[in-house]
Amino acid sequence: MRLSRYFLPVLKETPNEAQIVSHRLMLRAGLIRQEAAGIYAWLPLGFRVLQKIEQIVREEMNRAGAIEILMPTLQPADLWRETGRYDAYGPEMLRIKDRQDRELVYGPTNEDMVTEIFRAYVHSYKALPLNLYHTQWKFRDEVRPRFGVMRGREFLMKDAYSFDLNKEGARRSYNRMYVAYLRAFSRMGLQTIPMRAETGPIGGDLSHEFIVLAETGESGVFCHKDLLDMPIPGADIDFDSDLEPIVSQRTKLYAATEDVHDQARFEREVPADKRLSARGIEVGQIFYFGTKYSVPMKAVVTGPDGRDVPIEGGSYGIGVSRLAGAIIEASHDDAGIIWPEGVAPFDIALINLKPGDAKVDAACEEIYAKLTAAKKDILYDDRDERAGAKFASMDLIGIPYQIVVGPRGLEKGLVEVKVRATGVKDEVPVESAVARFAKT
Ligand SMILES: Nc1ncnc2c1ncn2[C@@H]1O[C@H](COP(=O)(O)OP(=O)(O)OP(=O)(O)O)[C@@H](O)[C@H]1O
Ligand SMILES: [Mg+2]
Repeated sequence: MRLSRYFLPVLKETPNEAQIVSHRLMLRAGLIRQEAAGIYAWLPLGFRVLQKIEQIVREEMNRAGAIEILMPTLQPADLWRETGRYDAYGPEMLRIKDRQDRELVYGPTNEDMVTEIFRAYVHSYKALPLNLYHTQWKFRDEVRPRFGVMRGREFLMKDAYSFDLNKEGARRSYNRMYVAYLRAFSRMGLQTIPMRAETGPIGGDLSHEFIVLAETGESGVFCHKDLLDMPIPGADIDFDSDLEPIVSQRTKLYAATEDVHDQARFEREVPADKRLSARGIEVGQIFYFGTKYSVPMKAVVTGPDGRDVPIEGGSYGIGVSRLAGAIIEASHDDAGIIWPEGVAPFDIALINLKPGDAKVDAACEEIYAKLTAAKKDILYDDRDERAGAKFASMDLIGIPYQIVVGPRGLEKGLVEVKVRATGVKDEVPVESAVARFAKT
């Protein structure tokens, strides 16, 4: 992509409505624009990041055996009456009437609808286990939308729903999501800690929140420090195998959000030098809720003994749009964002220090063409701007690598390669700059 033809509305001033660094940087780097309280438009660079996050989540859900669908944002109110949630959900739910006076809601979550889909088609235990998921916009009329996309009113969520014949099966489904979440977040460059959590309006009795530690996080959390450096299961993990050892390696150590925290137990179970009390951002939450929806909605299957049983369910959410903010909270410096490679909007920034200079232009075009052919996403700054301004905006938008091409270096046949995260710069021949990125 040539920057001269792109749409990258970078702001010079720091917007003063933003209280936390990720919100400030998202506005300054031209990732999002607020359209109403807690409602954002995603600008080109932000939308690329959002799509990268969504795709990682999709790949890990698929790997874990979940099946993608797409449910609508609008749902009939009657579905919510079947489960009693129409009244229980309260003012967070946006309620709408169509021209026929039919009541609808803008879905804040999808347990009710997915259960309706399940019961329409699945009648035998032989179809189980089943896990259906989608990534769709949700609306929750939060009392205090804030921190940009971290607590929006309209936000993008991946939500998965598992259906099993019995508790043991449901536990296996829960474990599959637990492991898939560890993998997904780690691919985004995030270290997350699963913590025991309250279940809230989703219901149920077993739940974990996946927490990114950050001072600006909204949740208080308490855990054993050993949870900070646990190995992440590899891509070759067999999701049909028993995942309990991976899960219990973590769950045997104390980790709880403030809602379920027990200070006496924390002090009893965790040696003083291993106690961590901190703040964190919830980027995902998983729930096992058993028959909470299948009983009222009569989602039953015929078991091997010929008797009908309500299915055992779980639901599994990831805050796809919140993650864009959470990743920035975890990865930035004074100059701007530092995108982890897995979610970066572009792989490489190419900076032309002297547009109009035939040699510099030719070298840039060559690098641009070769790396594009090697399937790299390049943002090529071909604008006629001061070098300082170019460096500042590239540092701000946080693309992981920069290739800087100027007349002085080119006289020696050299260009500069800079790693955004470390600031380390290397002067290398054009060919090796190309080779370095073309093969990765
Ligand atoms: N208002 C919001 N804005 C952005 N993301 C959100 C919002 N509410 C929830 N999410 C994301 O969706 C995920 C799944 O939703 P869940 O129902 O668990 O949310 P929640 O527990 O109500 O979130 P919170 O406690 O932060 O309000 C959350 O883990 C979070 O990452
Ligand atoms: Mg939650």
